[in-house]
Amino acid sequence: MAINSVVVIHGPNLNLLGEREPKHYGNSTLDEINSKIQAEALQSNISVETFQSNSEADILNKIHSIKADFIIINPAAFTHTSVSIRDALAATKIPFIEVHLSNVFARESFRKESFFSDIAVGVISGFGAEGYLAALRYAAQQK
Ligand code: DQA
Repeated sequence: MAINSVVVIHGPNLNLLGEREPKHYGNSTLDEINSKIQAEALQSNISVETFQSNSEADILNKIHSIKADFIIINPAAFTHTSVSIRDALAATKIPFIEVHLSNVFARESFRKESFFSDIAVGVISGFGAEGYLAALRYAAQQK
């Protein structure tokens, strides 16, 4: 299936990147990460929209309205809690990759549980912002 358009969804508290727990999440701001994503998208000849929300309802409504070919999502804390976002992704049938900046398997045990991983194309965890770029390159290769 040709992939020409991707939506990247950033979940709660990721608007605080740069100042938030840099030992886990690095020093880059979300704007800087989104700029890198757009640069990678340009290289790969793919159109990318980025979206961040702290609200589960807004993320659900966004997923319901997506017309893109592929989703890259860092559900952040909702990874470990949200059956409703899982169900929304399952309902769209749009393939998605789950990305985490930190290595969730090297942290508290509750972070090892994800409501998304078993229905994702794949999971990237622990490579910082590079994870989004790798996910985008994967999507581009499906062209
Ligand atoms: C995170 C990991 C989650 O456990 C955490 O709640 C986040 C960010 C990550 O990118 O490493 O907010 O998804």
